[in-house]
Order: sequence, then structure tokens, then C-alpha cells
Amino acid sequence: MHIDIQFVPSPPPKPNFLSNRVAVVIDVLRATSTMVQAMAHGASEIIPVATVEEAFQMAKVFPRNSIILCGERESKKIQGFDFGNSPKEYVTERVKGKKIILTTTNGTKAFHLVSSGKEILVGSFFNIGAVAKRCLELDRDLLIFPSGDEGNFSLEDTVCGGMLIQLITEKGDNSFVLNDASQCAQILYQRFEGNVTEAFHLSHHGKELINRGFEEDLAYCARIDITDIVPEFKDGVIRVPLPPPPPQQPACR
Ligand code: MLT
Repeated sequence: MHIDIQFVPSPPPKPNFLSNRVAVVIDVLRATSTMVQAMAHGASEIIPVATVEEAFQMAKVFPRNSIILCGERESKKIQGFDFGNSPKEYVTERVKGKKIILTTTNGTKAFHLVSSGKEILVGSFFNIGAVAKRCLELDRDLLIFPSGDEGNFSLEDTVCGGMLIQLITEKGDNSFVLNDASQCAQILYQRFEGNVTEAFHLSHHGKELINRGFEEDLAYCARIDITDIVPEFKDGVIRVPLPPPPPQQPACR
């Protein structure tokens, strides 16, 4: 398994680059943390869209009581939307059975950049162990895709990507090839191992969230392995795939 991480978000270099690769999108502060939290609390699906206009258009397609319209600009809830992008808003009473239409500054766009991936997984600290396990099961070359900070490198997403690399290489007995970028992310993670909130506080977007009144979200998004769900983005929608059916038992005589 070749493991790569792309430090800044951009479209794949060639049209078929991702066609046999797994992509893991990471936006720990806060879009993919919100997605994992919402799916773990029973949301039926999430439709990530790039713009506020698209979100309003998409909302018209479905009965109003079946959807919730969510997201942020400059970290704040958008006017006319139901919720913002703080994962802690996404509790069972609000999201169970609902379709979520979500638009965020970086995270929701990142999914569309890697939409040609063979599988596209939603990664965060909340489900990092389960994502590592799923990557090992799939056993394909991997592209970790931090969603970045308005086109720039993001420290917190790269630390999370580095943790994913560490877990995959520790747990698996597959053979792994790390390039300079993935080695660099793993080394960066080791610097913050046991204290990822320190990376959040140093990061540009972490500081922005503090200034905008969302400091609590930093500690909230740093919780590791609180769920074992691994949502997947497919055909424009994020869902938790159903487990495969159990193997057929031979008929008793
Ligand atoms: C994003 O997608 O850029 C974010 O998650 C931003 C935020 O929640 O502040």
C-alpha cells in the first residue's frame, strides 16, 4: 500500500489518478468532525455542497421537515440555516433520521475535489481508529486529503492525517510505502501525540475559532475514537455503508 498525503487541496494531477485509490478527507476543525458526529447520532445522510446558493437550491428538492440546512461562513451559522458547524450541535434529538445539507468554507468542497476516488472516507479524530481499520481492509493505495485552510496548509488536519498513517502502519501487516509527504505528516503527528489540542491552539484556524467564540470546539474535536463509524462519500452523498450480509449457513438436515 502506497500512502500519500496532499498538503494543500487541489484537483488530482490526472483524471484517473484516484480511480483505484482510497481518499480520506480530513477537516477536524470542524467539517468532518461535524459529519462524523451527525452520522453517529443518526442522521440518514449528508449532502455536502460548495456554496450557500447550492444549499438553498438543494433544500427546495426535499420536503422541508425531512432536511436540515447547516454550515458556516467565517465559522458562523449562515442566515436562514438551521445549524452552524459546531459538532456539538448535532445531537440525536435534532438529527436522527434527517438528511443534512451542509456547506462549509473548506471541508465540503474537498469532497468534490476527490470525487473520482474509488472509495472516499470521512476522517476525523472521532473515528480515526475505525478509518485506519477500514483502509487496511480495503488495502488499496491511499491518498489522505486534508481540506486545508482556504487553499493553504492546515496544521491540525495534517496532524490528524499523520495519526492515521501511524495507526495504519502500526496495525497492519501489509507492506507500506511512505513518501516524503506521508513520513513528514507522521513525524508531525509524533510531535503532538497525546496532546492534539496543542496543535489546534497553534494552528491558524484554531486561533480563528477562538477569536470567533468557538474555543470549546477545539477540545470537543480533539476527542479520539469516540465512534467506530466510517461514513463514505459516494455519488454526491455521505452515508454510513451497511455492513455486508452474514455468510449463508449451510441448511441443517
Ligand atoms: C471548513 O470547512 O472550512 C470548516 O470546517 C470551517 C469552520 O467550521 O470554521
